Amino acid sequence: MTQDELKTLVGQAALNYVEAGSIVGVGTGSTVNKFIDALASMKDQIAGAVSSSLASTERLQALGIKVFDATEVDELAVYIDGADEIDHAGHMVKGGGAALTREKIVAAQSRRFICIADKSKYVATLGGFPLPVEVIPMATRRIARQFEAMGGAATVRHKDGKPLVTDNGQHILDVTGLKIADPLVFESEVSQWPGVVTVGVFAFQKAHVCLLGTDDGVETLV
Ligand code: 5RP
Repeated sequence: MTQDELKTLVGQAALNYVEAGSIVGVGTGSTVNKFIDALASMKDQIAGAVSSSLASTERLQALGIKVFDATEVDELAVYIDGADEIDHAGHMVKGGGAALTREKIVAAQSRRFICIADKSKYVATLGGFPLPVEVIPMATRRIARQFEAMGGAATVRHKDGKPLVTDNGQHILDVTGLKIADPLVFESEVSQWPGVVTVGVFAFQKAHVCLLGTDDGVETLV
């Protein structure tokens, strides 16, 4: 199966976790787009969605799914999102689509995080994928130096020749060369650095279930 077919498979499998009448937390990315497309088939059975990005909001609304603001909802039963990497304990690296801050917020608001990913994302140790970190632009240089002191190399993500601006008006650093042996400690430490908005390690908001797309079908890892 192609990677795209695996994404479709896990996107459809995630429908099993959507409770009738509920508001669903929806992530961002190409895998989640498959989930959103599948969710359209049950749009009359749900109240709507809370979205983690302007891109997902547009896609949901185009399919006739009502989008609530996160501030209108106390708690969500499930949050469904992809990952750039997921380890065997459910810790993830996220933010390849630059939506990590809102993703972490909606994940924190949800009782269960259902991660949908193809098998290429399943790793023993996080750090192979360049780690996204959303930062306040004036802090970029100093934060890059702090990562260098850890053995990493940080570059500002660009789009169309200019620094990419997130939905929150900030920039993204992509950090290579890190081995994230203890994701909880790493997330705690980097989150304290002045100017860091959100680090793309999701250890505190880890996945409770991972639906992994493999050539043998969807594996459910808990
Ligand atoms: C966006 C994300 C995505 O979940 C992550 O980048 C995976 O994306 P895709 O499903 O396109 O591989 O964190 O910020």
